[in-house]
Amino acid sequence: MTSTTPRVAVVTGGARGIGAATAARLAADGHAVAVLDLLEDVAAETAAKLTADGHRAIGVGVDVADEDAVTAAVERVVTELGAPTILVNNAGILRDNLLFKMSTDDWDAVLGVHLRGAFLVTRAVQKHMIDAGWGRIVNLSSTSALGNRGQANYAAAKAGMQGFTKTLAIELGKFGVTANAVAPGVIATDMIAETAARVGVPLEDFLAHMAKEVPAGRVGQPEDIAAAVSFFCSDEAGFTNGQVLYVAGGPKA
Ligand SMILES: NC(=O)c1ccc[n+]([C@@H]2O[C@H](COP(=O)([O-])OP(=O)(O)OC[C@H]3O[C@@H](n4cnc5c(N)ncnc54)[C@H](O)[C@@H]3O)[C@@H](O)[C@H]2O)c1
Repeated sequence: MTSTTPRVAVVTGGARGIGAATAARLAADGHAVAVLDLLEDVAAETAAKLTADGHRAIGVGVDVADEDAVTAAVERVVTELGAPTILVNNAGILRDNLLFKMSTDDWDAVLGVHLRGAFLVTRAVQKHMIDAGWGRIVNLSSTSALGNRGQANYAAAKAGMQGFTKTLAIELGKFGVTANAVAPGVIATDMIAETAARVGVPLEDFLAHMAKEVPAGRVGQPEDIAAAVSFFCSDEAGFTNGQVLYVAGGPKA
């Protein structure tokens, strides 16, 4: 557990995978947690597990790319938990294809969830951080930001998250708000399971193949990412601002 003052945290895409592990980790760190997700029922279940463990948590159904829905979701968080001063922009989707086969819809959908989504939620939450004179924003990038075959949309979005993060750090630093990014390598979640299914490889074989490329000799688990997010959200990370931390079992650029 990281030593920190209890706050109200928003985790987008928090229903499952990295987001759910991050929600659990931030709750264990002592924060109240709002689990925002397109999957409203799963978000409610994830929040219910946290409350059953004695934490304060709510699940909120929201499409992060929908401006009005984001405004309403953040208002609900303020009413039910209090003003949020921790935000983890984690919601994400894949629509992989080689460039010549990539549809405009698949480009727009990926940019929409990752970039427009992070923009809308951050804009809605930042005023509470400014009012408090304290805030922590963590954006999920990816090793794919460095380029990855079949992911022109996703790589552009994840590189975009890094530029977004650094700009937030510059604009909000003087208000006691930090913004950092975590860039995971391959993490065993439903997102990877969907990729394995799409390419027609059994999940265990797919993960074993990916693990061979990782210096640490294994793929990551959601908790590996949650631990890095927890550090960036802590009181003691106040001078760590505008950084991108690759959590990939080995060095990345
Ligand atoms: N799994 C990996 O290997 C990996 C690697 C690098 C980066 N990432 C990033 O980490 C984040 C989490 O990934 P994951 O592996 O846990 O994926 P996941 O698919 O298991 O979970 C993503 C969550 O985001 C939610 N979501 C999707 N679109 C949404 C929307 N419009 N509004 C609200 N919620 C929405 C989904 O419902 C889901 O609960 C993503 O940003 C992903 O790009 C994952």
